[in-house]
Amino acid sequence: MIKKGIILAGGNGSRVGPSTKAISKQLIPLADKPIIFYSLSILMLLNIKDILIIVKKEDLSNYKKLLGNGKDFGIKINYAIQDKPRGLPEAFIIGKKFIKNNNVALILGDNFFHGQGLIELLNNKLVNFESGANIFSYNVRNPSAYGVIEQNKKKIKIIEKPKKTNSTKVITGLYFFDKNVSKLSSKLKKSKRGELEIIDLIKIYLKKNKLTITELGRGSAWLDTGTSKDILKAGNYIEIIEERQNQKIACIEEISFRKKWINRKLLNRRINFYGKSEYTSYLTGILKE
Ligand code: G1P
Repeated sequence: MIKKGIILAGGNGSRVGPSTKAISKQLIPLADKPIIFYSLSILMLLNIKDILIIVKKEDLSNYKKLLGNGKDFGIKINYAIQDKPRGLPEAFIIGKKFIKNNNVALILGDNFFHGQGLIELLNNKLVNFESGANIFSYNVRNPSAYGVIEQNKKKIKIIEKPKKTNSTKVITGLYFFDKNVSKLSSKLKKSKRGELEIIDLIKIYLKKNKLTITELGRGSAWLDTGTSKDILKAGNYIEIIEERQNQKIACIEEISFRKKWINRKLLNRRINFYGKSEYTSYLTGILKE
């Protein structure tokens, strides 16, 4: 079982150019809401209510303004600072006190997951998770941009951003780790690009035969928000589905209201907090149901 989650929202977002010079990438809009809503909503849908968000120091006040301590949407949010992007495993070093002796989920604050049955699949892995590590793979056309899983018969090889590979199976930005993760992360050495690498951590679990790889099938979407173009494409996907179904993806207040984590009063407070927008008309619609 996993009850704690970390969202890593550090990084410079430099590939998004001028848009992220003055604001954290995970706060800029993807369709009609900040990028971080999508990863936050995944944790919430998995009933993870104890969440640590890791941000850059200069962004902290903005995150607090938007999400506060999470109480208004029924969860508990703590914040921690990553002063420089030193790689994903640093999340477990920074989050050591938060994790304590628990299993933990890590989701990258700019990842987008969606699809019928996806939450059921993840939830099943999460509820039954005891020890080791569980990563989630996805087939892509451009594997070289990611951590790649190469499989030869039963032998598994994991490589970060290989220039050449025969595999199309890559590692998505959602990871489940057991309580040893902070200790193991602090023993990692920096890679050539000067960062701690999540694949080095994953390889430790692989070596011990404690790695589970779960494939996200073709019916699910894992989209990137690495560049402005990626954000536009993901935004189009979201817009099409939201418009067609008149239902929002990653509406954190809706999730928490439907889970009965907040009452009508708190939902209303959130509506007033945001002010008039299409997003809040949607929430008002939910209040009237
Ligand atoms: C990181 C990981 C990579 C993983 C990717 C998922 O890449 O290093 O293994 O596939 O996240 O989004 P980065 O964001 O550092 O390019």
